[in-house]
Parts: sequence; C-alpha cells; structure tokens
Amino acid sequence: MRLLVCGGAGFIGSNFVRERVRDHGDAVVVLDKLTYAGRRENLRDVEHEFVHGAIEDPEVVTAAMEGADAVVNFAAETHVDRSIAEPDAFVTTHALGTWVLLEAARAAGVRYLQVSTDEVYGSIEEGSFTESSPLQPSSPYSATKAGADLLVASYFHTYGLQTLICRGSNNYGPRQYPEKLIPLMVLNALHGDPLPVYGDGMQVRNWLYVEDFARGIGHVLAHGAPGEAYNVGGPDECPNIEVVQRIIELTGADPSLLTFVKDRPGHDRRYSLASEKVRALGWEAQVRFAGGLEQTVAWYQDNRAWWEPIRSGDYRAYYERQYGSRIAD
Ligand SMILES: NC(=O)c1ccc[n+]([C@@H]2O[C@H](COP(=O)([O-])OP(=O)(O)OC[C@H]3O[C@@H](n4cnc5c(N)ncnc54)[C@H](O)[C@@H]3O)[C@@H](O)[C@H]2O)c1
Repeated sequence: MRLLVCGGAGFIGSNFVRERVRDHGDAVVVLDKLTYAGRRENLRDVEHEFVHGAIEDPEVVTAAMEGADAVVNFAAETHVDRSIAEPDAFVTTHALGTWVLLEAARAAGVRYLQVSTDEVYGSIEEGSFTESSPLQPSSPYSATKAGADLLVASYFHTYGLQTLICRGSNNYGPRQYPEKLIPLMVLNALHGDPLPVYGDGMQVRNWLYVEDFARGIGHVLAHGAPGEAYNVGGPDECPNIEVVQRIIELTGADPSLLTFVKDRPGHDRRYSLASEKVRALGWEAQVRFAGGLEQTVAWYQDNRAWWEPIRSGDYRAYYERQYGSRIAD
C-alpha cells in the first residue's frame, strides 16, 4: 500500500511510519511542516519519501497525494498549554488544514483516516466515553480537534468520502517532545530539576503506549467501517502524581524535587475511553503502563543525542515562560 502520512515527523506519526514500513512493507510519503515538534531525525532509520510542507497548502497537498491509496493525518498542534497561550496555529492546522486534506482526498477518491484524541469528549468523573458520547471539548486544542472530527464526518455523509477517525488516549513512549508530562518529568529528574506537578496532581489519564496506538491506527485503516469513529484507549489509568512518583523511582531522583505548581486553566480531571469497538476489530493493547513506562525511561536515558539539542534550544524559553523557572544546562 502507498500511504500519505501527514505529520509523520512527529512523535506518534514517526512511530506509525516505522511500523508500516517495517511490518507491512508500505511505501510512505511523509508530508510535514516541521514545526518545533517535527524532526527529520525521527525518521532517520526508516525508508520514506519526505515532503516539507503544510497541510493547509492545497498545491503541496495535491502533489503529495498523487498515487496514494490512503491518507493518514497526524498533523496537528498538540500541546494544550500552547493552545491556551497562542490558539491561532491550532485553528489554522486543525480547521483549515483538515479541510484542505479532505478536499484533496475527495478529488483523488482516496480513503482518509483522521487521528484524533480522547480530549474531544472532555472530562469524565466516572465510567468511560464511547464513540457515541457527546463531544464536549474544554481547551482550544481539543475544541479545534473536535471541529476537525465533525468536518471529517461531514465528508462521509455529504460526499461519500471513505473516512475513519481514531481517537487515542494519552500516548507515551520514545521520541515525545519534552513539553509533555512523561518526557518532561524524566528529563528534569535526570538533571535534578524540580518536577512541576499541576494543581493536586490527581488528574487521571488513560495511558497508551505509542506503538500500540500506531498498530491500532493501522488496524482501523485496514478493517474499520467507513464513516465510523474508533476509540483507542490504553489498558491502564493513572493519576499524574503517581506517574511522577514512578519516574522518581525509576530514575533514582530525589523525591523532594516534586513541586506542586498552579493548575492549568480549565484542566480536565479525568479522561477514559471505552475501546470495545476497536477490540471487536481484533486490536488489543499489548503494553501495560508499568512496563511501558520503564522502557520509556530507559529510552530517554539511552538516547541523550535525541533530546539534548531540544533541551538546550528554544524549549528553554518555552519552559521559563510556562513554569517561571529555569532548567539546568
Ligand atoms: N500525544 C498524545 O498523547 C496524543 C493522543 C491522542 C491523539 N493524538 C493526536 O495524534 C496526532 C499526533 O500527535 P503527536 O503527539 O505525535 O504530535 P507532535 O506534536 O509530536 O507532532 C505533530 C507533527 O505534525 C506536524 N505539523 C504540525 N502542523 C502541521 C501542518 N500545518 N502541516 C503539516 N505538518 C504539521 C509537526 O511538524 C509534527 O511533526 C495529533 O493529531 C494529536 O492530536 C495525540
């Protein structure tokens, strides 16, 4: 199969591309804008064609889609804190970009899979969201992702485009940009920097190992019913504070580094997905959180060359703005 993978130079996209090329022998074209979160080196070990461009650019998109059997769209701005500070890029990429891709897919008659998130459902105190739960997003990130999902669904109903949506829960694993909870805490723990936990740290997330999500997306692309959305949730839930405590144990950091900081505005308390629908297609998560976290910490310990340029670059300025403190050199 020949795939156009948009946003394939980011965290989940690069894991997906690696899995498709290695395990399925797919030919992959990656289209990526290379924002701060996208890196060519995430795909250094994988054979692929690369197009540097934005999904909101119709000419680039049309050319990149030529000859593709399917399009998988990971391209997104993905950090909730950045969406609160500067929502513009979120609207451009999620609304305009998704629309441009859908139009090109319609013109080419190509199957289209949108990678989405559990955050579109908002927060849930008890129980789990199914695919028919209402969309009640809380942040500019999740609201623009929800808008993109609705637009994708409309292209199935209105034009008969073969669309699929995969809503993943919180991912973790190798090559995640260190603004996100797990790599942020691992790198700070390794440097003896404070470990800043928002609010009381009791926000619960449904952790999904990135390779499980990548396989789930491939599975839905192959076996999903057009027009449908599929939740792809992790096997375990864990409050943030416990995640940080486990990272302290795994890295041997000083527990007094744990510091509570002012909570994120509108911070969702708990995410939880019911994934029976994708399980009925034959997908199962293979990595439990305890083992996956151990592997992830080991990956960051063994791959300093991957994260050192990030931690010493623009990320420092972002960190200072966000947490009002500096990280060690
Ligand atoms: N990280 C998670 O926990 C998680 C969970 C569920 C779903 N998702 C979804 O999965 C997708 C990928 O997330 P990620 O964590 O890998 O993100 P990421 O931030 O690591 O990567 C995003 C990629 O998209 C590219 N990109 C951004 N804007 C673009 C544009 N306009 N045109 C082309 N490329 C562009 C970036 O350069 C980068 O390579 C997103 O759609 C996200 O909403 C993420």
